[in-house]
Amino acid sequence: MEAQDSRSRRIWNWFEVRYRVGTVANAMVHVKIPRSARTFYFGGITMFFFMVQVITGVLLVIYYQPTPDAAYGSILFIMNEVSFGWLIRSVHSWSANLMILFCVLHLLRVFFQGAYKRPREVTWGVGFALLALTLLFGFTGYLLPWDQRAYWATTVGTEIAGALPIVGSALDLLLRGGSDITARTLSRFFGVHVLVLPLSVLLFLVLHLTMVHQQGLADPKRENVNDETLPPGDFNPGSPESKRQLLPFFPNYILDEIIAWYIMLAALIVLASLFPAGLEEAANPLSTPAHTKPEWYFLFLYQGLKVIPRIVGVTLPIVAAVVLLFLPFLDRNPYIAARRRPIAIGLGVISLVGIISFTIWGRFS
Ligand code: HEM
Repeated sequence: MEAQDSRSRRIWNWFEVRYRVGTVANAMVHVKIPRSARTFYFGGITMFFFMVQVITGVLLVIYYQPTPDAAYGSILFIMNEVSFGWLIRSVHSWSANLMILFCVLHLLRVFFQGAYKRPREVTWGVGFALLALTLLFGFTGYLLPWDQRAYWATTVGTEIAGALPIVGSALDLLLRGGSDITARTLSRFFGVHVLVLPLSVLLFLVLHLTMVHQQGLADPKRENVNDETLPPGDFNPGSPESKRQLLPFFPNYILDEIIAWYIMLAALIVLASLFPAGLEEAANPLSTPAHTKPEWYFLFLYQGLKVIPRIVGVTLPIVAAVVLLFLPFLDRNPYIAARRRPIAIGLGVISLVGIISFTIWGRFS
């Protein structure tokens, strides 16, 4: 045991002398976690699902073929011939949905705790970009199985994009690569899904986490934005102040986080085994199904477009997205507690109830 200890110390020292790995490790460990912070681990769980997506995605790409003639057959092959192929595909599909769900829950946590306010404006903006990229992941991935649902849901989705004022028709052309959904659409969706989006998410994620690391987590108990109760600079585990206000990131926070990931992994396997990802008939551009609906996370937009005038149904979500992106600059109220932010919380609750109602309406209409 002692011999093993000294061997690992020697290996550590070898790297320390050359690359100063201790500095990096210290910087990662000395993060400020306010005792009163309640993140519910939503951000970390979203990151976990992203990692699952990358691993299962790489495995799927080994067999998947991105052409209209071969795509559907390759998915059938993955599900029926490849060992555990059906499980990998189901985990990929469930994890995609859960990544979107937890990303939204994380946004809501940050919003209701006022953690987007100064000095975390840019962290919020980068997070917003991550949500947009995550939704694009869902949109581009949906077409890849090339079954009836994939084909017609993408037809509806690109039509919605085409209805945007000014840029609509150019965007529709860019997405489809022509007037219809064809081999060109499939190959550009595939390229964006497996290369452009993973690299972009990685880049923004590194930025996001670096920002969180540099500032520490927001303390929801602070009175207003001018009152960052935590001392700036490095976390000093020995000081009496740190004992009262701060928890060390390592091992306290990271251990809880890993337990949360473990529970999510178990949930993922159970869901993927009990409710495997389905596959409809192969895409047929000549036979329009009776009901084509997008995935649950776009249902509120779809239902909105059905019941309110098209120009309002398209413009309203764009305006809402711009307001959300610039929220930290638009909301000038310096207070943190929800009871002192009646306008922001009120508008947030109304928007949330609206989105949930339209989603349920869209699902059952
Ligand atoms: C792929 C999506 C995302 C990932 C993986 C991610 C990851 C994380 C992680 C791990 C943290 C540390 C605290 C925690 O676990 O909650 C964090 C904090 C934060 N995130 Fe995200 N995030 C994502 C999307 C977003 C979105 C959509 C927003 C808002 C628009 C956002 C805004 C923030 C802010 C402001 C903080 C600092 C919160 C605080 O100090 O309490 N993030 N994020």
